[in-house]
Amino acid sequence: MARRRQIYEGKAKILYEGPEPGTLIQYFKDDATAFNAQKRGTIAGKGVINNRISEHIFTALQQIGVPTHFIRRLNMREQLIRQVEIIPIEIVIRNVAAGSLTKRLGIEEGTQLPRTIIEYYYKDDALGDPMIADEHIACFGWATQDEMNDIADMAIRVNDFLSGMFAAIGIRLIDFKLEFGRVWDGDFARVILADEISPDGCRLWDSKTNQKLDKDRFRQDLGGVEEAYQEVARRLGLLREEDEVAVLDLDSHRKKRGK
Ligand code: TMP
Repeated sequence: MARRRQIYEGKAKILYEGPEPGTLIQYFKDDATAFNAQKRGTIAGKGVINNRISEHIFTALQQIGVPTHFIRRLNMREQLIRQVEIIPIEIVIRNVAAGSLTKRLGIEEGTQLPRTIIEYYYKDDALGDPMIADEHIACFGWATQDEMNDIADMAIRVNDFLSGMFAAIGIRLIDFKLEFGRVWDGDFARVILADEISPDGCRLWDSKTNQKLDKDRFRQDLGGVEEAYQEVARRLGLLREEDEVAVLDLDSHRKKRGK
């Protein structure tokens, strides 16, 4: 196969030039990082599972009218997406206190928030993705006010939809991160949902036991990381029991061959 041009390599994904102008191929790696890449590791089969979970969620969101960059899944680790101009803001939506919110404000983990919180972080690894306010976004021109209104509206819709979707399979959506990008139609720019939605960027707790089913298992060395990602995929109906073994086998097989 002809070598494809790599456009960008992130911590968990690689973007390659797509088959047509305006498209890219998004490749999901097994690499995992936490605390701004101070902690690094791999989660066997994560890329395969996140590709499937993200496909499932983006397809469902598209069906309720949330525009996304997703076009179609190509294979186990790759999906075809629309090329966007990424807006350099990470949008975090919180329903229950966890993670940095508990540390910053001293709120106990697991506290149900009386209202959903949306936070913004400036997407800059060198600065450690600092939290920002609307004022910074306007002042530095990272997005227009109209774009931020659209982003907040979409974020709330995504939160409502995903909270219900996960509740139906016994999972609480604690918090999650979204990224958006611009697509141009002549002079007119439109904002669409980009990146991925997977247990890498969501906190997902079992509804009955509050057991963590997401990347916090990796961040906090809780063990059972691969199993947690598989459990989310299995409950979403994306993995049969035979596949769970296959995902792991395939990965150890690849590693042995040095691929
Ligand atoms: P936080 O509590 O560490 O701020 O994270 C909030 C949510 O955002 C959590 O579900 C994990 C996700 N997240 C990312 O996807 N990428 C990041 O770089 C960070 C800091 C958080």
